[in-house]
Amino acid sequence: MKRNLRIKDLPEFERPREKLEKTNINFLTNSELLSILLGGGIKGINVKRLSENILKKFGKDILTATVKDLTEIKGIGKVKAEQIVAALELAKRFINEDKSKIKILNSSDVFNLCKDLINKRKEHLVVLYLDSLNQLIKKEIISIGTVNSSIVHPREIFAPAYLYNATAIVIVHNHPDGDFNPSKEDQEITAKLTKVEDLSGIKIIDHIIISKEGYFSLLENYNQNRKINYFKSGYEQITLSEYYPSFIEKKESTIINRKYKDASFDFKKIRQTNGIHGMHIYPAVMAYPIADFLIDEYSNEDDIILDPFMGAGTTLVEANIKKRYSFGIDINPLAELITKVKLTPIRTELLNKTLNDILAKIEETEPDIATVKNIHFWFKDDVIIELGKLKKIIWELDNLDIRDFYKIVLSEIIRSTSNCRNGFKLHRYSEKDLIKHNPNVKALFQKKSIDNIDRLDSLKTVISKKHWYKIVKNVSEIDDNKIDLIVTSPPYGDSKTTVAYGQFSRFAIEWLELDNVNVDRESLGGKIINRPVYDIYSELLFDVVDNISKQDKKRSNDVFAFFYDLNKYLKEFARVLKKNGFMGIVVGNRTVKEIQIPTDEIIVELCKKDFFHHKTIVREIPNKRMPRKNSPTNIIGKTVNTMLEEFIIILERK
Ligand SMILES: C[S@@+](CC[C@H](N)C(=O)[O-])C[C@H]1O[C@@H](n2cnc3c(N)ncnc32)[C@H](O)[C@@H]1O
Repeated sequence: MKRNLRIKDLPEFERPREKLEKTNINFLTNSELLSILLGGGIKGINVKRLSENILKKFGKDILTATVKDLTEIKGIGKVKAEQIVAALELAKRFINEDKSKIKILNSSDVFNLCKDLINKRKEHLVVLYLDSLNQLIKKEIISIGTVNSSIVHPREIFAPAYLYNATAIVIVHNHPDGDFNPSKEDQEITAKLTKVEDLSGIKIIDHIIISKEGYFSLLENYNQNRKINYFKSGYEQITLSEYYPSFIEKKESTIINRKYKDASFDFKKIRQTNGIHGMHIYPAVMAYPIADFLIDEYSNEDDIILDPFMGAGTTLVEANIKKRYSFGIDINPLAELITKVKLTPIRTELLNKTLNDILAKIEETEPDIATVKNIHFWFKDDVIIELGKLKKIIWELDNLDIRDFYKIVLSEIIRSTSNCRNGFKLHRYSEKDLIKHNPNVKALFQKKSIDNIDRLDSLKTVISKKHWYKIVKNVSEIDDNKIDLIVTSPPYGDSKTTVAYGQFSRFAIEWLELDNVNVDRESLGGKIINRPVYDIYSELLFDVVDNISKQDKKRSNDVFAFFYDLNKYLKEFARVLKKNGFMGIVVGNRTVKEIQIPTDEIIVELCKKDFFHHKTIVREIPNKRMPRKNSPTNIIGKTVNTMLEEFIIILERK
């Protein structure tokens, strides 16, 4: 009979652990490896013998041996059997690991695998079925159409898991509207599924929402928005329900670029001067379909909308038509008047009758000539007389609304009958062209009146009397958290290099005796004041200003002054906007000293503290009334194309 030696009695090179320490693991026999795992034998059976007994009994089938099977062998207790089963299971898992299989180890892996959902126009519900090593077994589309808890049944999601022998799943769906934040429905579905998770035995690892702007991981959100590995330490799959849910927080993504060109925003076929918007020319008006888009997308009926740089009132008019209340602000009194007239319905018969009266009185009226600087340089003598007569008659109209209506007609005529070439800045016709410039004031007035009566008439059926608009002087007049949506287009830069609203409006302001504000000086960046540099969070701005100052210190000061003022306004907008209220800002990127200023990106940076950046839509500007070229170096003849693109920045109040 073979003597049962103790391990200690064996020569050192035959003792398994010593052998492992001194040689390569490949030289160890199966029983030696098993011996190390068992650690020791029992009285009468040394560990090597015990191992040989096990291998003799099971052979290759050891891989499927259970704790119960093993404990049937003499010398193997429960603890030892468990150790063997666990070690073999671990080995099996790694052996099964197939390098060609896709591993899903975190939310970025899911996003990369499901990027195709970004461009889907309908909601797609996709489930990733994973094995115990988080290897993808199958990516399956469960449904197309609204993802809704009443439509999606847990059975549809879990049943394929059994078919594929999956141990875990990741749920993925897309939001075609671009907002990747989970809706209430999304949260309900997640809650419903996690409730049956225990019963099903299938782990739900994450629920990911994908949109054009990035993605949202509910698991990460439950984990305070921190990135999280889908395996816990010790190689155990994580589950959503372990983190479920102390809160759901809106989140910003840094994954994909949120600035993209969208040709559907070019509105090539739409004329901005259609209907009510053509009542009075105004520089850099917002294409009204942009206002429509922002209002439809980011507000509801009866909400309050603010346009703090309202210009000719595009936003306020569209807001009213869409049954929203509105506030508007503009330093230019002409802008206030145009907006008021657009939004004040008057009976067509009354306007027609008044027009006939005005025309009939012209001959016999003594002109009331306004105080206009250099009037004889800018207007021909006969034009001054005719305009003076119209002014006098209009000023005598009793009905204030009708008076304002005709003031706006007169304002248009003042510009077109002046000696000023068409454009925004005051440039006089050449002497040669002036000879040919002999406008018929009365005929032009009549034509524009008829045109504007029609335009106002067209608004009658759509205007909402219930929905007020208020024009205020300053944002400070608006209470905190009062506004649901801001839709605006600020000046794109200081008035020296972009649109000079003051120059554009000067004749109208003087002739119509409107409030005598110096519009260009009051405009953003127009005043020379001491500007302390605090509360301005934009590295980009400082870089741009530095670069310009290398060429021209004064111009760099102007650029900084503009953003300094704009930043103050942005803070005020954050104050009046409700939490989760949206702000759509339309800007262009002008060039100063041949350096293009990324105004849109600077605004996003300035807003970072108070707003989430949702997206920036880039559009071409086919027919906006603004200077296409300027002379950045002030060298005559050297011009660059300035703003051919416009940026619609969409931000959400935090
Ligand atoms: C780009 S335009 C707005 C055009 C407007 N969205 C429209 O569709 O007619 C900018 C407007 O901002 C006004 N503005 C400039 N500085 C301002 C300020 N500090 N406060 C209020 N309005 C200002 C100008 O008078 C001008 O009417």
